[in-house]
Amino acid sequence: MKSNRVKRPASSGAAVDRGELVSRLNAAGHTPEFAGSICQVPRKHYVDPDYFAAETTVLFRKYPAYVGHSAEISAAGDYKTLKIAGVPLLIVRGGDGVARGFRNTCRHRGAPVMTTANGNCGNGGGKMICHYHGWTYDTRGALVGVPLPAAFPNLDRKANGLGPIRVQEKYGLIFAIIDDDAPDFDLVDHLGDLGPQFDSIGLAGFKPALHESIVAPTNWKLAWETFGESYHVPALHPRLLAIIPGSGLAYDSFGPHGRITLPLAGLPELLAQPKSRWAAAESGVHILFHYLLFPNIVVTLMDGAAQIQNIAPGRHVGEAVTTQTQVFAPTLSQEKKNTYGGFFNFSLHDLTANEDYPMAAGIYESLVAGSLQHTTLGRAEWPLHLFHQQRQRLMAAAGFA
Ligand code: FES
Repeated sequence: MKSNRVKRPASSGAAVDRGELVSRLNAAGHTPEFAGSICQVPRKHYVDPDYFAAETTVLFRKYPAYVGHSAEISAAGDYKTLKIAGVPLLIVRGGDGVARGFRNTCRHRGAPVMTTANGNCGNGGGKMICHYHGWTYDTRGALVGVPLPAAFPNLDRKANGLGPIRVQEKYGLIFAIIDDDAPDFDLVDHLGDLGPQFDSIGLAGFKPALHESIVAPTNWKLAWETFGESYHVPALHPRLLAIIPGSGLAYDSFGPHGRITLPLAGLPELLAQPKSRWAAAESGVHILFHYLLFPNIVVTLMDGAAQIQNIAPGRHVGEAVTTQTQVFAPTLSQEKKNTYGGFFNFSLHDLTANEDYPMAAGIYESLVAGSLQHTTLGRAEWPLHLFHQQRQRLMAAAGFA
């Protein structure tokens, strides 16, 4: 797969120069910034079960995986259950304020220790009790209670704590590495210049408002691709044109990650003002930030509001599970919460679930049927080039072409 990207100005790093982004959107008009060439993605990468199994290991078990926003487990004893690449996980905040991660697998006979629905949260009051037979763990994963202890003579409690996974938390985001043999990671390095961008808008202080999941009959990458370009907006989402006019966008890459800046309907009013005022562009009114965190997280960011979407592989190669979490700044007015929350819900249900994912499911069927040997990404679908290049680099390094 080959793609020569056009030369871009050097990344502005932590400081988001909104004036420069507005200038680029103004210059682009209704046309996205272009990659240097097209690229193609082989059919096998979307439909082969063996490739899928390798991919979930390389990209989701051995690579830092997003597991939640800090506010989802803000209090001591709060926990969240979820599955990443089929692995049941438990993220819990201890009395010391530290977020820790474990395999949500009881050391007695393997039942899930906490049984909330995938991606949901609760508070165990500092204890996590397996509801099969009642083995109890504390928030550090230590086994602290066994009913009828005489039934387990010489049980080594220290050796029977919950299996830990490595977790790091920064900028309001919690990431984990699931595979014990994967290299260590540093979340600050991993997010690079994007971390300070999240920090500057106070993402860590946002409060959760909504969490929900949708399942789609398609490969997770076909679901992901619907978030990574605006070329499809005029044809597939004509209703969206009233909010996001045209398919113009500005794209910047930050290591494996990217940031799409989209124009909103309020932008022409700002463009009519002196250029010196463009730097005051408001996200949610004039522009919209759409962060793509490799490999599968989309953070749609407005000033004071964020929609974090996790587009994950499902139980097999033809299933994708998308979860969204909405978080808002406590200081955001109720009117804006309603407006921005309404847009997030419209985006997930009306656009993603009802328009994007049926299209992604249809593409998957065609690929399974062998009607297409590769997909083609044009120059306007530039953010997806970077995604597939990075994905294929990691897969090739692990021995999978
Ligand atoms: Fe958890 Fe038995 S499987 S207590």
